[in-house]
Amino acid sequence: MPKKQLRIGLIGYGFMGRTHSNAFRKVNNFFDLDYQPVLKAVCARDAQNAGAFAAQWGYESIETDWRDLIARADIDLIDIAAPNNVHAEIAIAAARAGKMILCEKPLSMDGPEGKTMVAAVEKARVPNMVWYNYRRVPAVTLAKQLIDEGRLGRIFHYRAKFLQDWTISKDLPQGGAGLWRLDAKVAGSGVTGDLLAHCIDTAIWLNGAMDKVNAMTETFIKERKHNLTGKVEKVGIDDACAFLARFSNGSLATFESTRYARGHKALYTFEINGEHASIFWDLHDLHRLQYFDHRDEGRVRGWRSLHITDGDHPYMKNWWVPGLQIGYEHTFVHQIADFLAGLAKGKIPGPTFKDALETQYICDAVLKSARTGRWEKVPKAK
Ligand SMILES: NC(=O)c1ccc[n+]([C@@H]2O[C@H](COP(=O)([O-])OP(=O)(O)OC[C@H]3O[C@@H](n4cnc5c(N)ncnc54)[C@H](O)[C@@H]3O)[C@@H](O)[C@H]2O)c1
Repeated sequence: MPKKQLRIGLIGYGFMGRTHSNAFRKVNNFFDLDYQPVLKAVCARDAQNAGAFAAQWGYESIETDWRDLIARADIDLIDIAAPNNVHAEIAIAAARAGKMILCEKPLSMDGPEGKTMVAAVEKARVPNMVWYNYRRVPAVTLAKQLIDEGRLGRIFHYRAKFLQDWTISKDLPQGGAGLWRLDAKVAGSGVTGDLLAHCIDTAIWLNGAMDKVNAMTETFIKERKHNLTGKVEKVGIDDACAFLARFSNGSLATFESTRYARGHKALYTFEINGEHASIFWDLHDLHRLQYFDHRDEGRVRGWRSLHITDGDHPYMKNWWVPGLQIGYEHTFVHQIADFLAGLAKGKIPGPTFKDALETQYICDAVLKSARTGRWEKVPKAK
């Protein structure tokens, strides 16, 4: 049977442009699907760079204005891999044009903006998804299965961290290519929207809704030169954020993120403690899940280090043979595989725009609490 073509228009050729392109190219080699992505066009403002990217990754054509890309009749799906401040405008225009949309995280600059994006995709009834890719690390997907099977029992604690160290130098400028994450006007927020958004998405997927939060943030370096204006300007992002949370299931949580933890590059970890069992996961060792079950026979009870490479582990039968692990880029392959399978079935799996709006509301509540110094309730997205 010939596969149905899904003609992709990618916006942004940076870090995520590469992970998505890699996933589009590989997915049909490893997953048996009715749909096949076709790399129709890449859009970036610089024609020369877009051309070089298109040649390297096999895109058929380029555009230099995303509006022209959206206007093309030969594009079925718009994939937004550009910085946060352009997600909403592009997504809303794409929805109005009837295109399917894959959007990078965080969904939007804030909750109210995200709400307009959800309204646009719902009005247009276009399939949509947000690239919170950590849900599709096989070990994290297995954690979800174990929790849903009730193996942990009642959950008491959720503990997450995302630590980096790349902005410690006070001489690092803000703004422009590669450094837009330090510019609040482009990023929306600092570590809260960039890193904690990932931790929050995983947490609400694994542990359900969050009711209220109490946060503190800090901007350690208050002024930095702006690359686009050449002037020293106030820094508007949160360099670090830590917050307490209460989940609807009664569990207590702590979340912490910073770009000032010397020695850590992308240390995303979470631990969940339940009545019967606990789970620990670490991005630096992403193919392992640490599992402790109190019901094990006493003499051999202890933390088990599960190597998530067997055919009965999530996604793994599609890859190599048991014992051989996969990595970061595969999470994007899994996400597009699930999207394409969902398209064939007429039901797109999460995280949809609406799911991602929930994370956005939590980020807003966290930043509000850091300003007010009080517990803040999380508005409901659904
Ligand atoms: N899912 C994840 O784990 C993950 C990881 C990194 C980044 N992200 C998200 O992906 C998005 C992009 O981040 P990145 O690290 O790839 O950034 P990047 O700086 O590497 O690339 C951004 C790209 O967007 C392009 N761009 C900027 N403005 C544009 C415009 N108006 N029109 C067309 N192209 C434009 C830039 O030229 C560049 O090619 C962000 O929203 C970020 O939060 C997600």
